[in-house]
Amino acid sequence: MSNRDDAWEFVTSRLKTEHLRSHLLASEACMRALAARLGEDEDVWALTGLVHDVDLDEVDGDPGRHGEVGAGWLEERGYPAELVRAVRVHAGHAGPETTLDKGLIAVDPTTGFLVACTLVRPDRSLQSLKLKSVKKRMKEKRFAANVDRDQIRSVEALGVPTEEFLTLCIEAMRGIHESIGL
Ligand SMILES: [Fe+2]
Repeated sequence: MSNRDDAWEFVTSRLKTEHLRSHLLASEACMRALAARLGEDEDVWALTGLVHDVDLDEVDGDPGRHGEVGAGWLEERGYPAELVRAVRVHAGHAGPETTLDKGLIAVDPTTGFLVACTLVRPDRSLQSLKLKSVKKRMKEKRFAANVDRDQIRSVEALGVPTEEFLTLCIEAMRGIHESIGL
């Protein structure tokens, strides 16, 4: 199994789009935090977040290939089967079964939603982002309308209340705010 640095080198060799790289770094941080909360394997969860969209530049928005291409690359490189499975599942190629599948499905839209919540703040900084304003934005249908709120709330199926999950993700993303430019 690849270590973190190898994985990041692989990601940056395949994925050139800056905001997608930031999304993967944010997903890595949030997956690690959620794994810690659930008592799951933090390294495998973090790695899953870090690589899950590695094929997005390659497939150029083709939903039929997104996830399958990436999973193939990861399989070839000897990544764990549970990680490869979660990558396929998050792109809709199989139904979620494992805790890891479900964790990634919840984290994926949450990072983008928190970035959107941050970018509308006067200081564009995660440091001042409050749970209260995120909760308000969750209810505003026109705000970040492409983000499926139910997918964020699906974390509750893992026994984690949505508010706690959002707090945990805000804190995780604060921890890497420099590398994601927020
Ligand atoms: Fe993603």
